[in-house]
Amino acid sequence: MTLSLEAMNTLRRRREKIIQNISPEKLAALHAKGMLSARERVNILFLDGSFQELGMHAHHNAVSFGMAGRELPTDGVITGTGYVGNMQVAAFSQDFQVLAGTMGKMQARKIVRLMRHALRVGVPMVAFKDSGGARIQEGVDALSGYGDVFYYNVMLSGVVPQIAVVLGPCAGGAAYSPALMDFVIMARHNAYMFLTGPEVIKAVTGRTTTMDEVGSAEMHASVSGNVHFIAEDDQHAIALVKNLLSYLPPNNTEDPPHDLSVPIDEMVDQDIKALIPGDSSEPLNMHAVIQRLVDRGELLEVHAGFARNVIVGFARISGAVVGIVANNPMVMAGALDMDAADKIARFVRTCNVFNIPLVTLVDVPGFLPGVEEERGGIIRHGAKMLHAFASATVPKLTVILRKSYGGSYLAMCSQEMRADMVYAWPSAEIAVMGAEAAVKILYRKEIKEAADGKAKAAELTQQYRDEFASPYAAASNFYITDVIDPADTRWTLALALRKTLGKRELRPGKKHGNMPL
Ligand code: HXC
Repeated sequence: MTLSLEAMNTLRRRREKIIQNISPEKLAALHAKGMLSARERVNILFLDGSFQELGMHAHHNAVSFGMAGRELPTDGVITGTGYVGNMQVAAFSQDFQVLAGTMGKMQARKIVRLMRHALRVGVPMVAFKDSGGARIQEGVDALSGYGDVFYYNVMLSGVVPQIAVVLGPCAGGAAYSPALMDFVIMARHNAYMFLTGPEVIKAVTGRTTTMDEVGSAEMHASVSGNVHFIAEDDQHAIALVKNLLSYLPPNNTEDPPHDLSVPIDEMVDQDIKALIPGDSSEPLNMHAVIQRLVDRGELLEVHAGFARNVIVGFARISGAVVGIVANNPMVMAGALDMDAADKIARFVRTCNVFNIPLVTLVDVPGFLPGVEEERGGIIRHGAKMLHAFASATVPKLTVILRKSYGGSYLAMCSQEMRADMVYAWPSAEIAVMGAEAAVKILYRKEIKEAADGKAKAAELTQQYRDEFASPYAAASNFYITDVIDPADTRWTLALALRKTLGKRELRPGKKHGNMPL
């Protein structure tokens, strides 16, 4: 049987109607705001010709509130698979032009079908969010749809990377889906995300607020920590997705895309020493150190604006993908507070589930002392770091650059957290606490009774420093693998990484550890 010309025309007409559902004027208006249409987002993400749409003709069955027969192309979401580089990726893109991209039963079914594909085949999920939330006309069907999506977000968690890209509204319970994913990218100007917006907050609490205060990308990237990356516009958001994917494996059973054909040259970098300040009370520029240690100086910093006293991100060292965790002495002297602990713990767990080795760079004076910190639960938050590092079975390399005191010594992946290698620079100070504080406690009486208390304190401080606050006390007890010349750090790490990539560590079987949350 041959197909009639009419049948083929019908197919073409139906497809065109669905694909071209936005007028040139509306499209131009979106572009003027730095936005793209839902379909453009998908097309730009994927390699030309690799996108295959799922459920293009799916349609809602709602009848209440004037919905009967109302045409909603794609039911407000484009779903499908394509290639980003040579990796298959599943993506959906909510279409704000179709009833504000709202989610009803069919939209949820389409998304869930795609998530099941990602789970079965083991490929990353990318979700472009641009929606007015639950489709009010579909009532509990819409809520149930969200519930199914959340359930699959959890099923996919730790199996395939999930990246949410918030490019428009993401309000109410809808915001839980990005929160359940591994990374959230959010557009600086056209997106907002909150559980309850200004109007509800005013009605319930009486407090006047703004969309920016409770839901902007800037707020989430710097205050709440809900957002990992800010994008300047939609194009930038998609570029960030591609960059992020270039560090990730398609799923938890595969390695990240290491390029082990890159040779390890015994590169000695004498200039790195110039970054170590002469006075240990002066802050070290950790970003500059990282830049010298990683390939092409490229660090994809995650959570760059949140808890800036620590730095986390992806990089490569002689071709091996690594997760970098570091203190940032330029902010709060690099001390660890609640947000920093959350940021590190989360990143360590993300690296661990996706088999990404961890490189930890330490220059930390301790956990931040303070009433708010104690009352806020710094014990619980700090414990997350211990839990995350101790639980991580990926290769773990630690370099102690300068200060490494007390609990923070352990929390920054010391040997006791089962770091595979712990290197220390000669400038490292490893002790229960800093010299000044220790001397004040140990020698309070002697200093008080001395003719020149200040001079006595200075003498004792130096003595303490020489004796304890060097790497050699720790190294002589074999808590340190080696004390290295800072100039040798890059190739030392590169070589050690190659030697630990094959690491296999068996742990006792259990449902899961009980991380202090
Ligand atoms: C059904 C909706 C809708 C919704 C918008 N529309 N939101 N239809 N359910 N949630 C419809 C509008 O009626 C309109 O239809 C079309 O989409 C475009 O909306 P406009 O308001 O004209 O657009 P705009 O001015 O750009 O404003 C967009 C908006 C606003 C900011 C998203 O519509 C809005 O505030 N909507 C409500 C958002 C909200 O409160 N959602 C529920 C969140 S709670 P017509 O027919 O005129 O084209 C939630 C619970 C989830 O989602 C729970 C999960 C656990």
